[in-house]
Amino acid sequence: MNNALITKYNKPAPRYTSYPPANHFTEEIDHRHFEKALSESNNFSPNHISFYLHIPFCKKLCFYCGCNTCPLGKATQVEAYLDALKKELKTVIGLLDKNRKVSQIHYGGGTPNSIPAEALHELNQMIFDAFDLTENAEIAIETNPAYLDHSYIEALKTAGFNRFSLGIQDFNRNVLKMVNRDPSALPVDELMAIIKAGKPANAINFDFIYGLPGQTVESFSQTIRQAVALRPDRLVTFSYAHLPSVFKNQKILEKRGLPDSSLKVELYETAAEILKEAGYKAIGMDHFVLPDDELFVSLEKKKLHRNFQGYCTRETTGQVYAVGVSAISQLEQAYLQNTKSVDDYIKRINEMGAATVKGYLLNQNEMLIRESITELMCNRNLDLNDLANKRQLQLPEVLQALRINEAELHEFVNDGLLEIQNHHYQITDEGQLFIRNIAASLDPLQQNPTRLYSQTV
Ligand SMILES: C[S@@+](CC[C@H](N)C(=O)[O-])C[C@H]1O[C@@H](n2cnc3c(N)ncnc32)[C@H](O)[C@@H]1O
Ligand code: SF4
Repeated sequence: MNNALITKYNKPAPRYTSYPPANHFTEEIDHRHFEKALSESNNFSPNHISFYLHIPFCKKLCFYCGCNTCPLGKATQVEAYLDALKKELKTVIGLLDKNRKVSQIHYGGGTPNSIPAEALHELNQMIFDAFDLTENAEIAIETNPAYLDHSYIEALKTAGFNRFSLGIQDFNRNVLKMVNRDPSALPVDELMAIIKAGKPANAINFDFIYGLPGQTVESFSQTIRQAVALRPDRLVTFSYAHLPSVFKNQKILEKRGLPDSSLKVELYETAAEILKEAGYKAIGMDHFVLPDDELFVSLEKKKLHRNFQGYCTRETTGQVYAVGVSAISQLEQAYLQNTKSVDDYIKRINEMGAATVKGYLLNQNEMLIRESITELMCNRNLDLNDLANKRQLQLPEVLQALRINEAELHEFVNDGLLEIQNHHYQITDEGQLFIRNIAASLDPLQQNPTRLYSQTV
């Protein structure tokens, strides 16, 4: 990768896991909007339901972490949290049309496997009792392998989970030590064998992060080689997002020596090369999957989609109903975010039945911008003529809504990152690394950015 391009484009930009980005949510939307927004969502598409359940607790905090976490403290707090979570889930289920089907359940954190598997089973059962599932519904859990053993995995399988994400982050013990993280308790191949046993075999994702102290091209290549030898169904290489003003522990990593942006790109490119050689296909910026994976099949058909939980196919995509502390519901017409403090969450659920403290109601223009940015981020491709047809608009109306920055787009073209033909945008292989920059040029909010974002590289 050309260093001049990295220097030119390595600037702050949204990650676009939502549009508008979560830092544009406003406190004007709160628990008073919760019931109406959820009831109305029954009339919008996608019709399928995705549930997201947030388990914030971690036995030990990793210094790089940018998620909403809290140290696993008193058992009474965990108990009160799970009671509140069940209460909120019951309310949400009560507001949803039972003719809709559930296509996805996702547990994130924090560390969902820091609490007893029976508690997760109980939550899943509430959903299974209320709704039918789609044929290939995905019941997924993010896990920290330091806290997985045989009986816990078996209990998760009994609870209905069929996709297990293992947060490896790095196999190198020195790197893990630098970031205050324990390695997997059991050898990862043993964990995989337990997860996969039975029919149909469950799916396995690995998570890695590049850009951590102590990582070198040699050490990270070794980690990725070790990973491909284990053949997970999917593998994610997250670019370390450094925002120490928000996540204070990250300051410790500055002292331990963070790789600069050109080393970061080298880490990514070397990993991508090893993955490609091993037969993995790239999805978006950081996901790699086996060629028969439904995500790659969808990408080939330009039908890939994404939500806060990551990439999904048009079939699994549902409106997301998120419960738990800091959880964000992603409805067609609204975002609703719960309070970020565990104690406040418990209090609000017990007193008001809802814990929404922020959100956003989208207008038609914003839905159009969201669709454009999602198309680019997922499928590297955006045809504004198609979009106009789909939304029954004239092309000039679409151009007006997006307020496209033509000069900036042509610079991407001159730098070989983007091809444009008759309002059809195609991101090149070189442009993949700068996809956030390209998406930002279609975003009116980024013409005068007022919020804080991590660097694009
Ligand atoms: C909620 S965490 C994961 C689950 C589990 N607690 C674990 O530690 O494996 C989800 C993923 O976010 C990624 N992540 C966390 N902080 C990050 C950061 N600052 N930049 C990039 N990725 C990050 C990690 O790869 C992690 O596996
Ligand atoms: S990476 Fe996982 S275990 Fe580490 S602090 Fe974040 S959520 Fe907790």
